[in-house]
Amino acid sequence: MQKSVYIKTYGCQMNVYDSARMADVLAPRGYRQAEAPEDADLIILNTCHIREKAAEKVYSELGRLKRIKLNRRAAGKDAAIAVAGCVAQAEGAEIRRRAPAVDLVFGPQSYHRLPELLDRAKRDGSAIGQDFEADEKFDTLPEESASQGPSAFLTVQEGCDKFCTFCVVPYTRGAEFSRPAAAILAEARRMVAGGTREIALLGQNVNAYAGAAPLGVRGGAKGGVWGLGRLIRELAEVEGLDRIRYTTSHPRDMDDDLIAAHADVPALMPYLHLPVQSGSDRILAAMNRKHTADDYRRTVDRLRASRPDLALSSDFIVGFPGETDGDFAATLKLVTGIGYAQAYSFKYSARPGTPAAEADGQVPEAVKAGRLAALQQLLEAQQAAFNHACIGRTMPVLLDRPGRKPGQLVGRSPWMQAVHVAAPAERLGSIADIAIDRATANSLAGRLAAAPAPPARVRTGGLRAEGARAA
Ligand code: SAH
Ligand code: SF4
Ligand code: F3S
Repeated sequence: MQKSVYIKTYGCQMNVYDSARMADVLAPRGYRQAEAPEDADLIILNTCHIREKAAEKVYSELGRLKRIKLNRRAAGKDAAIAVAGCVAQAEGAEIRRRAPAVDLVFGPQSYHRLPELLDRAKRDGSAIGQDFEADEKFDTLPEESASQGPSAFLTVQEGCDKFCTFCVVPYTRGAEFSRPAAAILAEARRMVAGGTREIALLGQNVNAYAGAAPLGVRGGAKGGVWGLGRLIRELAEVEGLDRIRYTTSHPRDMDDDLIAAHADVPALMPYLHLPVQSGSDRILAAMNRKHTADDYRRTVDRLRASRPDLALSSDFIVGFPGETDGDFAATLKLVTGIGYAQAYSFKYSARPGTPAAEADGQVPEAVKAGRLAALQQLLEAQQAAFNHACIGRTMPVLLDRPGRKPGQLVGRSPWMQAVHVAAPAERLGSIADIAIDRATANSLAGRLAAAPAPPARVRTGGLRAEGARAA
C-alpha cells in the first residue's frame, strides 16, 4: 500500500545523509516522500543535540505536530510521529514523557531497523531504538538509494573518541567507526551512476578515517587499513566523479598523506573546514582539544604549501568556562592571522553530562554575546573580502540547484561559495565556467563564460590564483 513519510532534518550534514538513508530504508515498504507533514502517515524529526537551542527546537516542533496528528486522526488517517537523531539518543524515553504524541524514538545507529521499530510501535503503542554501534547499521542499509542530486554526501566515518569537554557527540554517536573502503567505493560508483558529480565525504572526525582496505586491490591486503588520503586518491579514479570534499576534520588527525593529497589530487576541492574552536592555549587545553594554537597554525601552513589556493573555514566557541578577555583576544589574533573564507561561531552552551557544563567560571550570557558579535564582525569582513577578491575571475561552478528567480541556476565554486547565474535549465548538474561579476557578503553572481567548460579535473589545477586567500 502507498504510504508517505515527511522527514525534517536538523543539525549537521551527517543528519542530512541519515535522512536520505531513512527514506531509502522505507521505500521498499511503500513509503514515498510527502511535501508537508499534513500529508504524511509518518513524520520523522531527525534531531540535533549539539546546543541547547537546537534540542529545544524539537519540543516546540512536536507541539505543532501533535495538532497535525489529531487533525489527521479525526479524518481517519494515520499519523505516526518519530523522533530520530542525536536528541533521541541522548534523551530516549524522556521524549515520550515530555511529548506523549511521539510514537517512536530512535538514535543515529538504529535507523536501519526502522521497519521493525514501526511494527513494534504499532503493536505496543511505542518503540525505542538506541543501538550504539555503527557497524551493524552500515552492513544492513539497503544498496538501493535515491539520488541526492549533483552534489551529495557520503558517510565514511562516524562517531568520536575525542571527548572535547563541551561536546555531546561522543555520547550521541558513539565510538569512532570507519566503513570499509570497498563499501565506500561501491556506494560512490552508484551515486555517480545516478548523476552525482561531487561527493562530500562525511564523518564527525572524517580525517581519523581508518577503514579496511579492499581485498585484492593495489595496496589492499587482509588486515590492511587505508587512511583518508588513500581513500580520496582511489575515489578520484572513479570515472565521472569530478569533485571530492571531506568534512569535518580534527586538526590533530591531519596526516602527511592527506596534506599531500591536496597537492596531488585535482578533484580534491581547495576548501577545508578545519575547526579550531579557540585561539587560546589555556582554553584549548581545558577543551581537551590536545593541540595548541601554534600547532594549528603550522598545520594550516603545511596545507597551504600543499595547495596554495586552499580556502579555510572553522568553528569557534566563545565564552567557554574560564575564558577571559585575554583568551578571547587570542582567538581574534588567530583569526586575523589565518584569514578565513567562511566560518561558524557559537556561544558556549552547557550540555548536560559533559565535563565543561560542571566547570567553574561559567561566562555570563552578556559577555558571550559581546564576544560573539566582535568575532562575527571580523569573520564577516574576511568572508566579504574573500568573495570580493573573486570579481573578475572565471571559475568552474557545479550548477546543482535551480535558483529562486526563473531562468536562474545556483551552484558551488571550488571554494564552496554559492554562485548565482542566468542559465538554461538543461545546464543543471553540469560544471560550467562562470565569469564572476558581483559579490555579496555570502555569495557570488556571474555569467556563463563563452566557451563550454572542459572537465573540472583539468581546470581546477590552473586556477590557483591570487585573491583566493582572504585578506
Ligand atoms: N566534529 C566536529 C564538530 C562537531 S559539532 C569537530 O570536531 O570539530 C560542530 C560544532 O559545534 C563544533 O565544532 C563546535 O564549534 C560547536 N559546538 C559543539 N558543542 C558545543 C557547545 N556545547 N556549545 C557551543 N558550541 C558547540
Ligand atoms: Fe565533538 Fe570534539 Fe568529537 Fe568534534 S572532536 S565531535 S567537537 S568531541
Ligand atoms: Fe547535531 Fe548530532 Fe550532528 S548533535 S551536529 S546532529 S552529530
